[in-house]
This record gives sequence, structure tokens and C-alpha cells, in this order.
Amino acid sequence: MQNRGVIFAKRPDGAVTPDVFDCRDLPMPEAGPGDVLVRNIYLSCDPYMRGRFKADSNKAFTLGAVIPARVVAQVVTSNNPDFNTGDYVWGFMGWELYSLVPGGQRLRIIDPSLGPISHAITVLGMPGLTAHVGIMDIGKPAPGETCFVSAASGAVGQVAGQIAKLQGCRVIGSAGSAAKIAHITDTLGFDAAFNYKTAPSIAGALDEHCPNGIDIYFDNVGGETLEAVIDRINPRARIAVCGQISGYDSQTAEWGEPRNLEKITLAGAVKTRFSVYDHMDQYDAFVPRMAQWLKNGDVVYFEDIWDGIEKTSEAFIDMMTGGNLGKRLVRVGEDATI
Ligand SMILES: NC(=O)c1ccc[n+]([C@@H]2O[C@H](COP(=O)([O-])OP(=O)(O)OC[C@H]3O[C@@H](n4cnc5c(N)ncnc54)[C@H](OP(=O)(O)O)[C@@H]3O)[C@@H](O)[C@H]2O)c1
Repeated sequence: MQNRGVIFAKRPDGAVTPDVFDCRDLPMPEAGPGDVLVRNIYLSCDPYMRGRFKADSNKAFTLGAVIPARVVAQVVTSNNPDFNTGDYVWGFMGWELYSLVPGGQRLRIIDPSLGPISHAITVLGMPGLTAHVGIMDIGKPAPGETCFVSAASGAVGQVAGQIAKLQGCRVIGSAGSAAKIAHITDTLGFDAAFNYKTAPSIAGALDEHCPNGIDIYFDNVGGETLEAVIDRINPRARIAVCGQISGYDSQTAEWGEPRNLEKITLAGAVKTRFSVYDHMDQYDAFVPRMAQWLKNGDVVYFEDIWDGIEKTSEAFIDMMTGGNLGKRLVRVGEDATI
């Protein structure tokens, strides 16, 4: 058994480049008392990691260390009574082939009867719960309302739109390629979608697809799209600010705030920035609810999986620039459940 992983080699200055990462052989960790050694199967690539590449992040990644990430894995050695060899688990490990989990901390066992084990870090995990919180708790959808979702084919956006649809909303999505737009309407079941890169203007596309204004905006991108939405919100609209990926590579502080905020006040609307980490108390109730939606076919979920630890950094960069159709994962070990 040879360990190998991706080291955080350099803080990016603007867009993430391959030299930010260094994939190399690593020492094989050994499990001490209470520890769990796992072989990793699926590594997650998430936009929030971009923020942690910045030195001034309060959770900044450490230079020279393995990139931390959510991982689905299988227990190889357990010195912990809570875990058995062979258990499928998920937790906060890193972009590497083998991880040591000291004391089994924050490691959770996966129930494979709920669906593919990868779902534990996708639709049944953080991205799925994020979508649920943003639509249900902040969006507070009512039948007949118009809900707009940006980055609508991605890890979070695809779920957000489908949950809003289940609540009776008319749902519109935006994304950055023709293939994504076809997927959003034909497969995910949104009522309409537009390509924000090729539309003559985002404002014009919103006018065309949301003729009755916007009641709920699930914001994954910020920037120009957020400002165009604010110009079109209905009275008492709800804006769930989930993420603002259009600004993540920016080195300046002012990119985050739209310039037309006063329209929110005038509309009696609310704009709420939320973090899924403040809602983890919902996790245990969320998992069976979403698992049932998936089993019923009420929600469909797409993962975009690359293979090989060597491809992890490229897979991340590709996701940040829109190459993913669905949730980007990297498979680095055999998934014997499929
Ligand atoms: N609040 C929370 O707790 C929380 C939790 C999870 C995720 N998030 C946020 O949710 C958002 C979506 O995350 P995800 O994991 O679902 O990622 P994702 O949508 O699967 O992948 C990121 C997507 O962002 C789009 N994008 C990249 N640059 C863009 C730009 N300049 N303008 C518009 N779109 C751009 C790309 O799609 P296109 O082809 O459409 O450009 C890309 O596919 C991110 O902002 C993330 O930080 C927040």
C-alpha cells in the first residue's frame, strides 16, 4: 500500500492554476489507539475550498499539507469500537489515497441501502442539505411563485430547483453551456433555463423567462446575475445567498455587495446569506427525507466523476470554470458497491 495525495503548494493569485497543487507520494499513516485508517474512494471538489486557499480566510488551508476535503471511504483498520473493517464511511479527510482519522473523529458510517455511497457527500450530504435549507427555510416557497436558481445544473443548484418544483413553484435556471441548459429543462424538469454566457443580457433573459417577476432567488453566483435579479424581485421576495462564485477569484474586497441593495428595502424583500454549517442540526431529518424523494423519483441527481488522484487538481480547476455537469467528485479507489 503506497499513499499518495495532493499537497497545497501555493496560494493562488486570481484564478486557480495547476501549480497551486503538488501530487506526490506520502507516508502511509499508521493507526494508533482509537484511530481509524481508511482507504479513500470518492474525493469532493467544492467551490468553498477556493475561499480557504486565501491567507485571510479564518479557515485557511495550510501550505504544505494535504488539501482537506469531504471523502467517502472504507475502513481498512479500526482501533475504535465504533467502526469495523469494511465499513463504508464519510468524513473530513483529504485529497489522498489513505487517511488516518484520529479517534474516528467526525467519521460517520454510510448506510448503502439509501443509495450509491457517493451520495453521502453529494445529494444526501452537504450540497443536498444546502439546497434544502436555502429553498425551504429561506425561500419559503408557495405554489405558483417564481423561483430562479443560478448555477442550476451544479451540485447544489440541481437540488434547489427540484425542491422548489416539488413545492409547486415555477422554476427557472441559468448555467454556462448549451448542454447544461438542455439538461436543466429536459432531465431536471425545470420550466425554463438560459445560458448566461450567450444570452444577449442576463437582464433580458430574466425578463423573457420570469415575466411575472421573481419571488425566490437561490443565488449561487452573485455579481451581475444578483444585481439583475434584484431589479426584478416581487414585493416580499426572498433571496437566499448561497454562494457568489463569480467573485471567488477576486483579490478585492468590494465584489460581494450588489449596487442596487435599496431595491430590496423598497420591495420589503429579504436577502439572507446562509451557511449550511449553521443548519447541521437538520442533517439527521434531512437524509431520510431526501432518500425518499430519490427513491420516489421526485428528485434526480447527477454526479460528474473523474478518476485518479493525479487528476484531482485538474478536476477542481475544471469545476471552478464550469466544466462539471453535476457534482464533481474524483474516484481514487474501487467502489465495490456498484
Ligand atoms: N452557503 C453554503 O453553505 C454553501 C454550501 C455549498 C455550496 N455553496 C456555494 O454554492 C455555489 C454552488 O456550489 P456547487 O458545489 O453546487 O458548485 P457547482 O455549481 O457544482 O460548480 C460550480 C459552478 O459555478 C459556475 N460558475 C463558475 N464561475 C462562474 C461565474 N463567474 N459566474 C457564474 N457561474 C459560474 C460553473 O457553472 P456554469 O457553467 O454555469 O458557469 C460551475 O459549474 C457556490 O457558490 C458555493 O460556494 C454554499
